[in-house]
Amino acid sequence: MTRTIDSKLPDVGTTIFTVMSHLANEVGAINLSQGFPSFDPPEELTDRISFYLKSGANQYAPMPGVPALREAIVAKTARIQGRTLNVDTELTICTGATEGLFSAITALVRRDDEVIVFDPAYDSYEPAITLAGGITRHVPLLIDDNGHDFRPDWDRLRGTLNDRTRLVILNFPHNPTGAILSQDDLDTLAEITRDTQCYLLSDEVYEHIVFDGEPHRSLLGHDELWHRSMVICSFGKTFHATGWKLGYCAAPADLTEEFRKVHQFTVFTVSTPTQHGVADYLGSHPEFYEQLPRFYQEKRDRFCSLLEGSRFRFKPAQSTFFQLLDYSDISDERDADLAVRWTREIGVASIPLTVFCETPFTGTRLRFCFAKDDATLEAAAEKLRDL
Ligand SMILES: Cc1ncc(COP(=O)(O)O)c(C=O)c1O
Repeated sequence: MTRTIDSKLPDVGTTIFTVMSHLANEVGAINLSQGFPSFDPPEELTDRISFYLKSGANQYAPMPGVPALREAIVAKTARIQGRTLNVDTELTICTGATEGLFSAITALVRRDDEVIVFDPAYDSYEPAITLAGGITRHVPLLIDDNGHDFRPDWDRLRGTLNDRTRLVILNFPHNPTGAILSQDDLDTLAEITRDTQCYLLSDEVYEHIVFDGEPHRSLLGHDELWHRSMVICSFGKTFHATGWKLGYCAAPADLTEEFRKVHQFTVFTVSTPTQHGVADYLGSHPEFYEQLPRFYQEKRDRFCSLLEGSRFRFKPAQSTFFQLLDYSDISDERDADLAVRWTREIGVASIPLTVFCETPFTGTRLRFCFAKDDATLEAAAEKLRDL
């Protein structure tokens, strides 16, 4: 019997991260495509998780998350962003940022609501919006006159917002461009949304990876924006543990209530021993996330200096663990084709930017992950320098 399923997501294929990682493995290429570190979480942290695994912390955690972990996040957020979250009503532990984003979108977006995303947009947003019955509106980021830096186009946002806009999704520090927000950006966003009914969903998974002495400016830390915001973070990026899928959603109590209505029937709770272990470590080792900008800035600088003398155009990333390389002096091929060809022929896998955009305005740029050990970065750079 053959049948055709009337798909709810007819345009969705396999995510580019899976496609490129799979290809890299198949052809034995150095995989700088998918965003995961090639090193382990701190041993003291894995020891704490093992301890809880072996001490009976193996049954369902409370639906909003283990209290000790929520308390540790409250303390961190108060210290860094100056906001003291209510531990019972404003914080929910979720299964990585992906579940947090999905639950938030499902909780808020109704049929025919419009949701604005900034392109290039992380690829999980639009399918979630579509499944919720919403309509995605794409606003491209602006490329600075220097040809490298990206930033939000607030005028386009202002022009796209309307009475049907239910949600605006932001992602700063931004994957893949590394763009960050200034205080002026936050104030402008507050001014644009002031007389509207829309909510803000802020994907801040790279909150601890901002370079050159700049702070991470969270929507959490802005008094006016906070009241309409759900902020999603992930320990996967912070603790070199993307496989743990541990994250959280911070939001005012009424938004958290709606978030939990979905969260409790999507995953209900999150791995108990992991939560306990991270709670202990987060509370007692703030120096780990405090040194993260320096740690990744050194990686960024190493990768960039290895590429000096190559034919790529680039400016060191402002945040995240991704470096964009503009290949316009080497090839005029489409980025998606070139990423595949170079994985096969050169042996280095990367991510094309245009797959995250409604229109291919990002041009001739590929994204390379530098969360790798020095030997991997050196081997990759050697191949890239030869192009
Ligand atoms: C911008 C962005 N949002 C969300 C995620 C997903 O985070 P998690 O692995 O915690 O689900 C990622 C992971 O790469 C990301 O880059």
